[in-house]
Amino acid sequence: LNRSSFPAGFIFGTASSSYQYEGAAKDGGRGPSIWDTFTHRCPFSIRENQLSGQQAFKSMERRGGTRSDSSFGTFPNWCHKDRIQDGSNGDVTVDQYHHYKEDVGIMRQMGFDAYRFSISWSRVLPNGRLSGGVNLEGIKYYNNLINELLAKGLKPFVTLFHFDLPQSLEDDYGGFLSPHIVNDFRDYTEVCFKEFGDRVKHWITLNEPTSYSVGGYTSGAIPPGRCSDWQNQYCTKGNSGTEPYLVIHHQLLAHAAAVKVYRQKYQERQKGTLGISLETGWMVPYSKARHHRNAMLRALDFRIGWLMDPLINGDYPHSMRSLVGNRLPKFTKEQSKLVNRSFDFIGLNYYTAYYAAYAPQHNAGNASYLTDSRANLSTERNGIPIGPQAASEWLHLYPRGIRDLLLYTKQKYHNPLIYITENGIDEFNNATLSLEEALVDNQRIEYYFSHLWYLQKAIRDGVNVKGYFAWSLLDNFEWNSGYTVRFGINYVDYKDGCKRHPKLSAHWFTNFLKK
Ligand code: GCO
Repeated sequence: LNRSSFPAGFIFGTASSSYQYEGAAKDGGRGPSIWDTFTHRCPFSIRENQLSGQQAFKSMERRGGTRSDSSFGTFPNWCHKDRIQDGSNGDVTVDQYHHYKEDVGIMRQMGFDAYRFSISWSRVLPNGRLSGGVNLEGIKYYNNLINELLAKGLKPFVTLFHFDLPQSLEDDYGGFLSPHIVNDFRDYTEVCFKEFGDRVKHWITLNEPTSYSVGGYTSGAIPPGRCSDWQNQYCTKGNSGTEPYLVIHHQLLAHAAAVKVYRQKYQERQKGTLGISLETGWMVPYSKARHHRNAMLRALDFRIGWLMDPLINGDYPHSMRSLVGNRLPKFTKEQSKLVNRSFDFIGLNYYTAYYAAYAPQHNAGNASYLTDSRANLSTERNGIPIGPQAASEWLHLYPRGIRDLLLYTKQKYHNPLIYITENGIDEFNNATLSLEEALVDNQRIEYYFSHLWYLQKAIRDGVNVKGYFAWSLLDNFEWNSGYTVRFGINYVDYKDGCKRHPKLSAHWFTNFLKK
């Protein structure tokens, strides 16, 4: 299996995101995002979460953390447990802001064709709005990165939003909870089309809307850290659980507004294409029993159909309409038309699969996103995991899922043009290993080999997939896991100036990509 097992012109790349890679969080005119707030305002580590309030604050302040201010309440009500596993943040992370030339050199030397990265909204518009002024140093940074990629023969695939919302938009009107976000997102994307659209021909408006809405508004595990799910011990009971649905609704409208302005004002001349990247865990019925198979289909509706149905049919899936009822927003005729077919390609982020089992609605009075689908997801059946586990407990190897997902998307959504915009696996950041030992990542080689093998089978099955992006070129800041796990095919030595070192999987990929 190597590059020649794929059609000529098939694109291979790696993926990243601004908050996880750039660093320089306060440099170059960048404004704060909700991730800066979330990691700084209450950076309790797991250990500190077990201390009493005052002891936790003292311990955190000794590490340079800052107390949450009164608007966020006091520990522990607002600081959810386990927010950031190691109490870390993206202030510096892998410092791509200063290392981008070296990183593009690594991509080229490995033989990649493209690089997917995201633009930090608050680096381009520090207070989120056009009226607040464009940060020219931010424009300059992204021009330098794009020009370096093109000079080394790599295509830029640019994500416009990858979770790091400008804090000022969250403060002013609650970010994606408010319809105001639609015009502010449209204005921001238009700045990017204008400044970079002569060289960027593949735009991804939003990354994983469901991760943002469920993580930020149901479990509260990621910013803005609101939780509406009654199961979460930090949430106030009896929430209506409407927030995740409202956030997705506004994300779809914001996405459609960006697509509309591109098609009206830029596509003619710039000839670029637009897509959206969806988080898509594959679902396997818990057993052959009919009620588990139906649960699997509902789970796919709630996970993928939540976005794909509006994009293909102009409305949410029937299963959501009937199970969520009036908590699910309605599209006006005009909005439905705007959202329908508002893409040139679909990005699918595939990592792993889950068993889906029928779960009768319990606690109907406390219905919320996690219970609405009446499908309970698990990673094991009768005590046997769905596949070998990686470092993160949600990540099991289930490579045939990438083919099943692609066949499902082809059949159900009329064979859209698809890019796999993320696929990858992590290992623990094990401080006891020597650098040499840490570079041996055999499970990652097994992961990539097997997923690429099933991917080329899906292509033979007629799926219209034209590219594949590995997550990720480098180890980086893994959200709630901080630096406790490593997703890179290249190792980053955080103790030695973020030096990059190829892991075994980097050598494997370099051979795989040979032309
Ligand atoms: C995403 C992902 C990435 C993660 C990767 C590993 O939302 O696209 O969360 O940012 O780092 O999926 O979890």
